Amino acid sequence: RSVYVFNGPNLSRLGTREPDVYGAETFADLTALCRETGRELGLSVEVRQTDDEAEMLGWLHEAADGRVPVVLNPAAFTHYSYALRDAIAQRTAPLVEVHISNPAAREEFRHNSVVAAVATGTIAGFGLRSYVLALQAIAEISAE
Ligand code: DQA
Repeated sequence: RSVYVFNGPNLSRLGTREPDVYGAETFADLTALCRETGRELGLSVEVRQTDDEAEMLGWLHEAADGRVPVVLNPAAFTHYSYALRDAIAQRTAPLVEVHISNPAAREEFRHNSVVAAVATGTIAGFGLRSYVLALQAIAEISAE
């Protein structure tokens, strides 16, 4: 079974970007972790990152058309992109919103997610492990 792991703006900068908030591991480390977790769960995981909202929308349309489950870190799009929200609402397969940090414990503008209501569920605050937990959730609900 295929699963997409989509990452929004600035997540390519993991490792150098605010390491006190997001940790020392790089985007390459995140990609390797997701692929390895997928292997253990019997999922074929494809990891992508973009800083471009239009590109992310295209990927979400592709996932909707293929009914492919998605782990999505919308990054800053989380807090303002109604276009992302509407793209996510079109899909039928599970979509788990993930965050490395816990946005609820940070600045006020991060407390609201405009995509949370159309996601299957949200996992936040466990560092890169948020992605592992999200992939486990997808494996479990897909086996039902
Ligand atoms: C983030 C949290 C967002 O508020 C922020 O804009 C990010 C990363 C996270 O993974 O903790 O870019 O989605």
